[in-house]
Amino acid sequence: MEKRVGFVGAGMVGAEAARQLLSWGIADVRIVDIQGDMAKGKALDMTEAAPLLGTAAIALGGDDYGLLEGCEVIIVTAGIPRKPGMSRDDLLKTNISITSSVCEGIARHAPGSVVIIVTNPLDAIVYAAQGFLDGVCQVIGMAGALDSARFRAFLSMETGVAADDIQAMVLGSHGDAMVPLASSASAGGIPLSVWIDQQRMSEIITRTQKGGGEIVGLLKTGSAYYAPGVASARMAKAIILDEGRIMPTCTRLNGEYGVEGVFMGVPASLGKGGVKKVIEVPLSDEEQGMWEKSLAHVRSLMGEVDELS
Ligand code: APR
Repeated sequence: MEKRVGFVGAGMVGAEAARQLLSWGIADVRIVDIQGDMAKGKALDMTEAAPLLGTAAIALGGDDYGLLEGCEVIIVTAGIPRKPGMSRDDLLKTNISITSSVCEGIARHAPGSVVIIVTNPLDAIVYAAQGFLDGVCQVIGMAGALDSARFRAFLSMETGVAADDIQAMVLGSHGDAMVPLASSASAGGIPLSVWIDQQRMSEIITRTQKGGGEIVGLLKTGSAYYAPGVASARMAKAIILDEGRIMPTCTRLNGEYGVEGVFMGVPASLGKGGVKKVIEVPLSDEEQGMWEKSLAHVRSLMGEVDELS
């Protein structure tokens, strides 16, 4: 196929994103992982599903970054999860170092591509990756697309309205300091305040903020991958098809929301080349307060990255 989407990381999230993208039949898929045979095997397995899916798209995998040649978008999930006894700083340090080698491969074989970071801690890794790829690639992060999908799913469960009829966004950082926007949430264009009282809405907001942990608690081993995989694939699709779709995206703010030089989750129009425009939405006083806390959290993460890099 003419279009190609690359993946670095063939683990649970990367493979699910690749499989989802392949099933849409809009691009070939290239998957790089330090475990080359595993990436090769998953890619072959996906390609063997193509005849049944009715798509002409194929997947190739391995440990060679040369696979990324010609990829317009690259989804990065490479990293390690936090292990017992490991400090947050140790995790950050290890994932920054992995990201550095990943970015080196991307710079060599796919300069000019749009890089979507999924590796956690998200806001810190996006900032580090943009530092490694400055002037080479636009780096954005996938967090808000997932957090918003969770918020919308919970609002759908609450109201009984079809999930894709629910419009609601989550801004700010990834994790407890995220900012689910109740003030602009709607169902079929009708404000959700008509359906859900404040008390219930604040419970749904808390559930959204702890959405990742809820899945971890249920799975016992590992973390979520279906929704994170589809959210990443959806962002890549918006870019390669130049859809101009508005999706919450972690991107560098250049004066929008009164913020300069910080990577924050904001609604952005995604199309060819990545972020086409950051959209500024009005925030209620309470949301503005949450946004400020989220901003302070990301600024302190950026400080940690600067110290560790
Ligand atoms: N180069 C390439 N791939 C690497 C490297 C490296 N230096 N180091 C690790 N990897 C690969 C691993 O081999 C593994 O296949 O990254 C993959 C990570 O996959 P999983 O451990 O299955 O993790 P996953 O559940 O996919 O999550 C990936 O996304 O949502 C976030 O918190 C999550 O940071 C995590 C990331």
